[in-house]
Amino acid sequence: MRVAMLTGGGDCPGLNAVMRAVARKGERTYDDELLGFQDGWKGVLEGRVVPLGVEQLRGTLPRGGTVLGSSRTNPYKIDGGPEQVRATLREHRVDALVAIGGEDTLGVAHRLAEEGVHVVGVPKTIDNDLSATELTFGFNTAVQICVDAIDRLHTTAESHDRVMVVEVMGRHAGHIAAWAGIAGGATITLIPEQPFDVDAVCEAIRHRHTQGKRLASIVVISEGATPREGTMELQSGELDAFGHVRLGGVGTRLAEQIELRTGYETRVTTLGHVQRGGTPTAFDRVLATRFGVAAIDAVHAEAWGTMVALRADHIVRVPLADAVGELKLVDPELYEVAQVFFE
Ligand code: F6P
Repeated sequence: MRVAMLTGGGDCPGLNAVMRAVARKGERTYDDELLGFQDGWKGVLEGRVVPLGVEQLRGTLPRGGTVLGSSRTNPYKIDGGPEQVRATLREHRVDALVAIGGEDTLGVAHRLAEEGVHVVGVPKTIDNDLSATELTFGFNTAVQICVDAIDRLHTTAESHDRVMVVEVMGRHAGHIAAWAGIAGGATITLIPEQPFDVDAVCEAIRHRHTQGKRLASIVVISEGATPREGTMELQSGELDAFGHVRLGGVGTRLAEQIELRTGYETRVTTLGHVQRGGTPTAFDRVLATRFGVAAIDAVHAEAWGTMVALRADHIVRVPLADAVGELKLVDPELYEVAQVFFE
């Protein structure tokens, strides 16, 4: 078979590990010819295809990012886009497509599959907010990067008796913040699922600081968290092809309010794209490799319109429709664990 891969949406540590696994099992077990479309759906629309076999992917297991490049292009937002996708696949004699992405990329894959395209999905996002899979690769790496940063912020915060606000990624779901907050010993963690009360945040910080000297506070906040009373505006920015606004800035606004209301010196660290960069953890390399092997097996089982997923430590196939229907939010039980440690 001629099997093509593409990576779409925000990049994520482990993308290369998935493709390496698809190529290895595809070539060695199934005698497939492996190709890659550059820059997600954009490369499919423009017919930019490259060979992507074992040889091309050698040495990429520990490498972050994606050797194929990525984009947030949505063919369904372009006149004649889906027809162009099908034409490219025909022109390059592609028998099957492995789409590696989050809800947007897989949403496109789902629609194409419904229209008869031979496509299998692999779940990717550092945000871990895709339904139908317990975990996505990249999440573990992102959390570790946040925790490493928080550990460092603790010592400088204590030296100066300061409040440190740490803004992490998470547009609609606060998985990264919840995990990083628990693992990093945050004074308080704020997630998009639960609008926060600025006064309650300040109260927690005051309480923490009155318990002793050098008890600095760490506030972890998701970029998509919002204040309950609507006093702090979120930055409005340009929309991408999937209609998402560019976030970033709630941490800075919260830090200003904390300093103003409590009088404690407050600094903000926005971890931003550092969370998506660099080498995947061992956990993510293994998960990505398992997903890649399962994806090429799904291709040969002709399981079109499915996505590989992690469920109870097994890799299973689920309908793409289940993955893209609604986002997976933070389990309130997990947030309750974080809350036990709030001041
Ligand atoms: O891939 C998901 C994500 O990392 C979100 O957490 C974040 O809001 C967004 O991507 C940032 O996108 P961009 O790289 O386009 O700035």
